[in-house]
This record gives sequence, structure tokens and C-alpha cells, in this order.
Amino acid sequence: MTVELIPLKDRRIVIIGGAGFIGHNLALALKSKGAQVEIIDGLQVNNLLAYTSADAADNPNRDLYVKVINQRLELLREAGIPLHVQDARDYHALSRVLSQINPQVIIHLAAISHAGKSNKDPYSTFDHSLRTLENALDNSRKKVEHFIYLSSSMVYGNFLTEEVEETHPLDPIGIYGALKVAGEKMVIAYQQVFDLPYTIIRPSALYGPRCVSRRVGQIFIESAMKGGVLKIDGDGGEKLDFTYIEDLTNGIERVIQHPNSRNQIFNMTYGKSRSINDLVGIIKEHFPEAPVEFVQRDNLMPFRGTLSVKKLDDLIGYKPTNPIDIGFPKYIKWYKELDPSGKFWMDIKVSG
Ligand SMILES: NC(=O)c1ccc[n+]([C@@H]2O[C@H](COP(=O)([O-])OP(=O)(O)OC[C@H]3O[C@@H](n4cnc5c(N)ncnc54)[C@H](O)[C@@H]3O)[C@@H](O)[C@H]2O)c1
Repeated sequence: MTVELIPLKDRRIVIIGGAGFIGHNLALALKSKGAQVEIIDGLQVNNLLAYTSADAADNPNRDLYVKVINQRLELLREAGIPLHVQDARDYHALSRVLSQINPQVIIHLAAISHAGKSNKDPYSTFDHSLRTLENALDNSRKKVEHFIYLSSSMVYGNFLTEEVEETHPLDPIGIYGALKVAGEKMVIAYQQVFDLPYTIIRPSALYGPRCVSRRVGQIFIESAMKGGVLKIDGDGGEKLDFTYIEDLTNGIERVIQHPNSRNQIFNMTYGKSRSINDLVGIIKEHFPEAPVEFVQRDNLMPFRGTLSVKKLDDLIGYKPTNPIDIGFPKYIKWYKELDPSGKFWMDIKVSG
């Protein structure tokens, strides 16, 4: 039986937390398909205000990340995507912006999107992640056709099997994963009580242009660009399901369009984990001189691996095309083009 896809063209979509790494890449992709996409973002968390405030004066990465975030904002402006600078913790202000836009789809990304930072600051992690989610859900009742929530592979905790399906037990370690489980339950409850159709997406280990979240691949490349050391946590044998941003944005487009995505939870990754040592091998092809050092790993990081994307493929047709051998060279190319003269890299600092 052929399923009729909902066209992206003219679909009114709001991305809350949309000026972040995933959000701006997704907004650009959706806009290029003709969607009427608008962004709500406070720019405070892991974004422009965090790196330009007086508190960030001593942050060694400040110059680089302000340049990267400005590139995001410029691309959004060029694409004609409205950015509503609004803190989504403010229920009434969020209500006002949403009723002006009247979206058919809401994609909720706002959060403190980093496990280490969440453990250091649980109070504001709760507010930026769960308070914003509750505000968005409450403003969606009876109005919004589809609510999409970005959860995480961290809901599983340590993977009990080499490959995990969506039915794997949820046993998170630490604040970030615990709040993601709570967020999933809230989204499901809004469907049960108010009939709000949802899709929950669990990505993992994303990478790609214009990220400032300091995940492993990004730290390696930035360090190598400055002639620094690649510091590997543990022995490098640990595996992650590295996912190129374009595979995720393609997957989310499919979720918006396909009726089978409603009221489902999906893993959304490349679908095959690779070791940190494999990743270092690829990075060394581009930076052969970069020295490698092994350091102690963070015990609060769960041991992960492959997330099965079989359900996603079976239900809506998902075909990722970027293993790390293809995705990382594209990512490195973007870094090298950020300042072709190389002068900027000589002048700035980055932390190792
Ligand atoms: N990047 C990954 O590898 C990854 C993996 C799994 C899940 N996720 C989830 O995907 C979502 C997006 O991740 P990202 O990598 O784009 O993170 P990001 O930090 O780049 O973006 C988050 C955005 O949310 C905004 N925000 C935070 N609090 C806000 C508030 N109170 N009001 C308005 N805006 C607010 C920030 O300003 C920022 O632009 C997060 O929920 C994250 O937990 C990310």
C-alpha cells in the first residue's frame, strides 16, 4: 500500500531551540524544501550570549565560537528564516510568539544539551530542558498537528547489548539522561490526555559544521587545526554511533512527512558504531602530524555502541549515507574553509 506523504512545502514549522547546532541546520534544510520555518531561541545557552557575555571573557574558545555562531545566524538571515529571540522558560511570552506563528509542527530542541554540563548545573538544566518542554507542550494542545521531541541515546545508560533497539531498558546515568526520560514521558502523557500526536527521536554522537558543543570529534579537529594533541579518553576502543548532521536532518524531514511516524519513538543515528581509534585514524589522514595522548575517561559517561535504526527504516524509510569515513572529511573541509588564510587560527586560542 502506498502511503501519502505530507508535503513540506508551505508547512508551518517552529523549532524551539532552533538557533543551536541541530536547529539551524534543520531549519536551513526544511526551508530549502519550501517549508515555512521559524525559530524561537533565547541565544543564552551554548549560544551567542553565552560566548559574548562578560562571564565568557576567559573562555579560550570564545573567538572561534562567536565566529561559528555568527556564521549560523548569517545563514539563517540569508535564507529568510525568522528568528524570535525569546526565552522559552517564559510561558506567556512563548504563548504570544506561538499564537502569532500558528505552527502545524513544533520541534522541541531547547535544552542544556551536554551531559557533563548538566551534571554540573542540574537546576538550570531542569529549567532549560523540562520547563521549556512543558511550556511548549501546553501551548500545543488542540492546536498543533505534530510535536517532535529530541531525546537522546543517553536514556539507555550503559548499553546491555552491542546494538540497542528502542525497547532496551531505560536506565540513565546522571542528570541529562534522567531529564530526557522525564521529557519523553511528558510528551507521551500529552498524547494520552490531549491527543497531541508526537514523535520522539533518540540521536547520538552527532557531528557536522557549526557545532560549538565540544563533543569528541569537534575537540580533536579544533586541537589539530592549532597543532595540538588529540586527547583520547580511555584506550580509544570505546565505540560510538557517530552521526553526520545531514543524516539526522534528512531523517527528521521524513518524520514530518510520513504518517507512520506518529506516536512513535525512534533511534536516529548512522546505525553502526565505530571506535574512537577509528575516528582518530580518519583525522590523522588530514592532520598526520597531530600527536595522540590517552587520558582518563569520565566515569559518568555510559558505555554505548550501535543504535538500531531498523524500526525507523521499516516504518518511514530511513537511509543514512554518511559513515565517519565520508562525514568527517566533509566536516574537516568546513573547518579548513572557515578561514582559508589560516591567519585566524594562528591568532585564536582553543582549549585542548
Ligand atoms: N548534538 C547531539 O549530539 C545530540 C544528541 C542527542 C540529543 N541531542 C538533543 O538535541 C537537542 C538540540 O541539541 P543541539 O546539539 O542542537 O544543542 P545546542 O546547545 O546547540 O542547541 C540548543 C539550543 O537551545 C536553546 N535554548 C536553551 N534553553 C533555551 C530556552 N530556555 N529558551 C529558548 N532557547 C533555549 C539554546 O540557545 C541553543 O541554541 C537537545 O535537546 C539535545 O539534548 C543532541
